[in-house]
Amino acid sequence: MKHITGRRDFIRKVSAGTLAYLAAYNIPSFARTSNDPDKLAILGGTPVRDKMTWPQWPYRNQKMIDNLSDATNSGIWSRIDAEKTKVSQWELDFATMTGAKYAVATGSGTQSLNTCLFALGIGPGDEVITSPYTDMGTVSAIITCHALPVFADLDPYSYQLNAEDVESKINIRTKAIIPVHMLGAPCEMDRIIAIAKKHNLYVVEDAAQAHLASYKGTKLGNIGNLGCFSFQGSKQVSCGEGGAVIGSDEQLIDKVYSVMNHGTARTPMVDQHGKIIGDHVRIGPKYRMNEFQAAILNGQQDTIQQRFDLRNNNAAYLREQLKDFPGLKVQKMYEGTDSAAYYLFGMSYQKEHFNNADRSIFLKAIQAEGVGLSGYISQGLHKEPWTNYILSLQGYKSIFGKNRLQQWKKDLHKPECDKACAHMAGLYAVGTLLGTKEDMDSVVEAIMKVYKNRDQLAKLV
Ligand SMILES: Cc1ncc(COP(=O)(O)O)c(C=O)c1O
Repeated sequence: MKHITGRRDFIRKVSAGTLAYLAAYNIPSFARTSNDPDKLAILGGTPVRDKMTWPQWPYRNQKMIDNLSDATNSGIWSRIDAEKTKVSQWELDFATMTGAKYAVATGSGTQSLNTCLFALGIGPGDEVITSPYTDMGTVSAIITCHALPVFADLDPYSYQLNAEDVESKINIRTKAIIPVHMLGAPCEMDRIIAIAKKHNLYVVEDAAQAHLASYKGTKLGNIGNLGCFSFQGSKQVSCGEGGAVIGSDEQLIDKVYSVMNHGTARTPMVDQHGKIIGDHVRIGPKYRMNEFQAAILNGQQDTIQQRFDLRNNNAAYLREQLKDFPGLKVQKMYEGTDSAAYYLFGMSYQKEHFNNADRSIFLKAIQAEGVGLSGYISQGLHKEPWTNYILSLQGYKSIFGKNRLQQWKKDLHKPECDKACAHMAGLYAVGTLLGTKEDMDSVVEAIMKVYKNRDQLAKLV
């Protein structure tokens, strides 16, 4: 039997796509001494990424600083201080970048989602179907409209909504679906749109993590009625906190704008005789993006595509390296996925291939090698305390009724989401996927080093 010895040799073999046999191959336990390069770093060995550094994140450049200084000196700090502002410029640029007709900037991804629901007239008594595997912002957008978030379960290994389960949750109160393009990859939009059309529902895409990603030739956010993005600090396009809504329906986008602008329309409302009756026209919180946020965004505008392409190239390389490796299942992509934005490079940890070591041990061992894989969301939103909170509210009780709420509570059981939470070992991609080929090799090398020494993981319990 041929033994795999050196780390480089191991990687070469991995690169040749020969990992499948390793699952059945009982690698001898070596790396027992501290000067052995194969000894796990967590047990005192040398880390794979000892001296290497990751690309700086968040991305920053001189143009952002110049823009900020310009905004400060101009005295125009709010979009309402002038007709053309840094925010209105960002709206034009973001619409162009995403292939949308219109964009409206907001203060966050959560605000964008909430704005869309208000603009679509969703409110008390309505239900919105979404994923339990998402940021609280998705749910917050629904409950701040006093609507009921209804969860469908996930499609295994894609981390996206299971379209069939979505359809099973539709009832007379259902008004909209929010598919969440998790980790920056497209949901199975053909099926979701078909279901929405069949049942006459709105679709608001939560593309908070999915800037520029494309499905069947269309950039995400343009497939449903409206699409929402986040520019929060951890996102691929970031200004600390920020968001945007995109759309192609001018009337609907005008509503979006006025919701964002505390119910104030771009142009005043007139009566049938053309007489102005006022411009405060609907319910809306105040969700304006400010000029400083836009200054940071404008400053990176011409570099966004380049980073997006780099993340896609590096992700394709990692996917190829890991394609036959049984220990980590890489996120499933749907047919028609042209590209993904890669918020995380999603992988599911397969404990049985790591000597049954707990995921937390595996993550610690990888971390010690200088590669941060993350469990990401620790539990689905169906398990969080807000579910009991809304059940305790008189408003929810009287609007939805005891029976519906009891049934809703009983349905807070999402086994596929629970599995996704338990098995995720994703590479935070925003910065790391901007690395070199050598960086990507080091990620694979760290994984393989831990795999090769999986018998050692028992010591770490
Ligand atoms: C999928 C998803 N939806 C919504 C949000 C909310 O965006 P924000 O944090 O900008 O409010 C986030 C951000 O974390 C997200 O990842």
